[in-house]
Amino acid sequence: MTDVQITEIKNSPSCRFINLMDRNASDTFAREVGDGLAAPEKYIHSKYIYDAYGSELFDQMAQEKNYYLVHAEMAILTQFSAEIVSQLADNTVLIELGSGSAAKTRRLLDALLHKQGATLFCPIDISGDFLQENVRRLSADYPDLNILGIIADFDSGLAGLADHIRQPKLLLCSDIGYVDRVKAASLLREKIIPALTPDDRLLLGIDLKKEADLINLAYRCTDKGDSLRHRFATNVLHHINRQLGGTFVPENFQRHCFYNEDVGRVEIYLKSLRDQQVVIEDLGQTFSFKAGELVRLHYSYKYDQDDIQQLAKSAGLQLTQQWFDDERLYSLNLFSVLEAS
Ligand SMILES: C[S@@+](CC[C@H](N)C(=O)[O-])C[C@H]1O[C@@H](n2cnc3c(N)ncnc32)[C@H](O)[C@@H]1O
Repeated sequence: MTDVQITEIKNSPSCRFINLMDRNASDTFAREVGDGLAAPEKYIHSKYIYDAYGSELFDQMAQEKNYYLVHAEMAILTQFSAEIVSQLADNTVLIELGSGSAAKTRRLLDALLHKQGATLFCPIDISGDFLQENVRRLSADYPDLNILGIIADFDSGLAGLADHIRQPKLLLCSDIGYVDRVKAASLLREKIIPALTPDDRLLLGIDLKKEADLINLAYRCTDKGDSLRHRFATNVLHHINRQLGGTFVPENFQRHCFYNEDVGRVEIYLKSLRDQQVVIEDLGQTFSFKAGELVRLHYSYKYDQDDIQQLAKSAGLQLTQQWFDDERLYSLNLFSVLEAS
């Protein structure tokens, strides 16, 4: 944990950034893309969708009426932020994993500032330019907020940060659904819990199982011609072309998405529209795609109450309180670490 290289890229009294995406980040990007495209069932990690353009496209999707996830979470935070914050130790620092534009987080920040005055907020996001722009905006809107933006992958960002913060922490994460439920528990156990002390809390956004039609509508699974979703999904190919010298032709792929009700997850793929070959210069490798072949981009697992309880138990967390929106579409779950007996 302690050997993480911290480089400050901008300093001002209340708004600072640390960039943990060093030269190795580009090697990691190349290696992970190479591993995914060489796998028997091809995949590309969805985190690579998020450069500044990908983040902007996500924000546009988040505003769509049917994308209930963001609206439901916003409704919960609007109604319950004061109650959530009342459960925290004094002088708590808010750390957000995958903060994006941190639009909903403003509700929590309002409540924290109201309760304790001066507050430190540490958003962690892989999308560096987008993070910096949003942190500067936030800083202008919240003069009393002290902000430390961390440009990093979750793991390195949290590990790098945990060693530097001596105050109680609230760790906010709006998405654990991108890995299956067993992996989610190990992720919490291995990456999140080591960064938490008994005074700290984890606030986890978890999307709930519901009728397939609502989910398919939210993710626009049946609308093959949706240009915004197509641009969002294929942005990962542009990103690879630009950063790794790839020769993807994004128009030769189509977004393919459905809710797998048996497993309780949304599945999002890029489908190759023809037999084709793609060179990735930085890897010195050529990858072949058959017409109709799928490249997995993203899973989004949904939970019911038993799944949430099971997640807490397997991870070694205590579920202390939950909040839901009026339609019970989405949940915010407050956890503490189980004291060792
Ligand atoms: C679906 S968006 C959600 C943004 C925001 N939390 C919200 O709910 O509106 C996911 C965010 O997490 C970031 N992200 C995805 N994978 C990441 C990773 N492995 N490490 C750090 N940030 C990541 C993306 O850049 C993006 O800003």
